[in-house]
Amino acid sequence: MTIIQAEQIMLQEPTHARLAHDDNYAFGSAFINGVYCGVHEAAIPIVDMGFMHADAAYDVVSVSKGQFFRLEDHLNRFESSCAKFRLNNPYSQQQTAEILTNLVKLAGTREAYVWWCVTRGIMSGGDRSDADAFENCFYAFVIPYMYIASDEQRTRGLDVMISKNYIRIPPNSVDPTAKNLHWMDMKLALFEARDNQKEWSVLLDSEGYLAEAPGANIFVVKGSAIYTPDSGCLEGITRRTTLDLARELDIPVHVQRVHKDELIHADEAFMTSTAGGIMPINSVNDTLLGGAVGPGAITTKLHNLYWQKRWQGWLGTCVDFDTPVVIAE
Ligand SMILES: Cc1ncc(COP(=O)(O)O)c(C=O)c1O
Repeated sequence: MTIIQAEQIMLQEPTHARLAHDDNYAFGSAFINGVYCGVHEAAIPIVDMGFMHADAAYDVVSVSKGQFFRLEDHLNRFESSCAKFRLNNPYSQQQTAEILTNLVKLAGTREAYVWWCVTRGIMSGGDRSDADAFENCFYAFVIPYMYIASDEQRTRGLDVMISKNYIRIPPNSVDPTAKNLHWMDMKLALFEARDNQKEWSVLLDSEGYLAEAPGANIFVVKGSAIYTPDSGCLEGITRRTTLDLARELDIPVHVQRVHKDELIHADEAFMTSTAGGIMPINSVNDTLLGGAVGPGAITTKLHNLYWQKRWQGWLGTCVDFDTPVVIAE
């Protein structure tokens, strides 16, 4: 079995192609302070504390073949992230879904990367210890789907390293289950990987157990079973999907602490993310997983089933591109 060339299908198949859209939305669409605009002209105030202090919660959902994937699960996770950070989304879940849908329709993107956030809002000189003293702000944008691992990379598997210089921010510093903008540990670990001729990093916790990778969850395959950390990471929607798919395939799943040595000695491993689906790993710290080049059989099966089921409409919400967006003045 070979890895489905999902990126190529998204770019070339007529049922995935981008639909007609206003030139203004050529690069994508955005929603800023209640107004729809082209993504290239979207701007937020420099004194927004989301920008100044990463004081925000965000989420990302994808659209493929004209369907949101697990939209409700993303909206629920977003609501929970906001609650953990004492932020209030000024829009209800239904209104949020409507805004995101309008953005996808305006951009005509049947393959879309959909990003939104709520920030604490403008620094006002008020009591900064009072979480409720600020008017929280909602921003969103949609751009054509971004693949953080190309067809070529997923076909041969990624060469990764376990970061030596950085650990993941501990859960009792910033709760990783609330999707947040504290990315510097992950960014520096990515730069470290490049410095070491690797493509990705995996970050550990302070005790040498796997946490997550930059923008992705990590999985280890040992024998016929898969393992993924139970803590120290975002509860990724693609991670949940992978666990669902594994159960459907009768693959035993273990959600528990996973030591770094189990990754180095794994038969197979992969990462999961909305922006990449299931991304096979070829080697860890120069050790070829399973002693062979390329993605393993279990990883390949999960990778392909993920896209096949999505394109059949599994857990999808169709975007009605035929009904024009009506924007209230
Ligand atoms: C830190 C982190 N972990 C994991 C993930 C994967 O989560 P999901 O599958 O919901 O995209 C992301 C996604 O951006 C992330 O930022």
